[in-house]
Amino acid sequence: MNIKKIAVLTSGGDAPGMNATIRSVVRTAITEGMEVVGVIRGYNGLIHGDLRPMHVRSVSGIINLGGTLLYTARSPEFATEEGMQKAIKTCHDNNIDGVVVIGGDGSFRGARDLSARGIPCVGIPGTIDNDISSSDYTIGFDTALNTAVEMVDRLRDTAQSHDRCSVVEVMGRRAGYLALRTAIAVGATHVLVPEIGYDIDEVCQQINEGHAIGKQHFIIIVAEGIGGVEQIAKDIQERTGIESRATILGHVQRGGRPSARDRVNATRMGYHAVKLLSAGIGNRVVVMKNSKVIDYDIQEALAMHKPFENDLYDMVMQISV
Ligand code: F6P
Repeated sequence: MNIKKIAVLTSGGDAPGMNATIRSVVRTAITEGMEVVGVIRGYNGLIHGDLRPMHVRSVSGIINLGGTLLYTARSPEFATEEGMQKAIKTCHDNNIDGVVVIGGDGSFRGARDLSARGIPCVGIPGTIDNDISSSDYTIGFDTALNTAVEMVDRLRDTAQSHDRCSVVEVMGRRAGYLALRTAIAVGATHVLVPEIGYDIDEVCQQINEGHAIGKQHFIIIVAEGIGGVEQIAKDIQERTGIESRATILGHVQRGGRPSARDRVNATRMGYHAVKLLSAGIGNRVVVMKNSKVIDYDIQEALAMHKPFENDLYDMVMQISV
C-alpha cells in the first residue's frame, strides 16, 4: 500500500514525552514525502473529524514540553461499531491512509480494529505506568519516576525531622512498576504492589525491627492499585507507635518537562513508526526490547505477558534494614 498521508493522535492518559513523539512523527513523515494531520483529543477527534494540518514548524519548540499538543481523551464511542465507522469515514473523506496512535494497550486495541478495517495503524507506547505488556519501556515512565522520586525525597526531609513514617501512594493504575522503581530510588522501607500484595503485620514488623536497630524514620511506597494509604498510615501508627502521615502524589506525576531519556526514546519510536507506515506496513506496535526499538503485530503484542520484577522486589525487601 502506498501511504501518502498519515494522521497522528494521542490517546488515554497523557504522558511526558508525547510531544517529543508527535514532533518525531511529523518531521519524519514530512521528510519521507508524506502529508500529516494531527487528530485532536484522540479517537474522539477521528470520529468527529477534528483534524489539524501539521507542518515541520507546527512541532517547533515542543520537545521539552509535558502534556500533549494534540490533547487526549479516552473514547468509549470508538469502541462501538458506529464510532469506528465514523472514524473510518473521516479517514476516507480526508485521504488519510495510515494512523500513528500514541497511548496504552486500550488505544492499541482501537488501532488493531482500525487496521483490520483497512486503515493501517502503528501504535507507540505512551503511559507513565510502564504497563504495556510487549515493551520494556513506555514513554513518560522515566519522567514520572523522576518526579515521584523528587517528591518522596521532599517527604523524607519532613519525615526525618519528625521521626515519622511517610506512607506515599504512587500512580500506576493496576501495575506496580512505577511504585517499585520509586521505592528502589528513594531507599524505601517497604513497597506495596498489587502484583504481590501485602500483609500489614509484616510491614509493621519490618518497621519495628528497623526501629529496634536505630532506624528513626520510614518511607512506605504504596502503588495506586493497592490504595488506601490513609488507613495504612493509621494502622502503622496504631501498631508501631510511630507517628505516620499519608500522601497521594496524584496527577503531579503526569506533568512536567520530559526527561532526556523520554525525549530520546520518544524520538526513536516516532521515527520507527513512520518508517513502517512509509513502507506500507500497518497493524504494528513499536516497542523497546533490550534497549532496541523493534515492532510487533498488534494482536501478538496485546497477547504478551509482562512478568513482574520479583527480583527487584526481593532486593528492596532484603536491603531495607
Ligand atoms: O494511565 C495513567 C494514569 O495516570 C494511571 O496511573 C492512573 O490510574 C490513571 O491514569 C488516572 O486517570 P485519570 O487522569 O483519568 O484520572
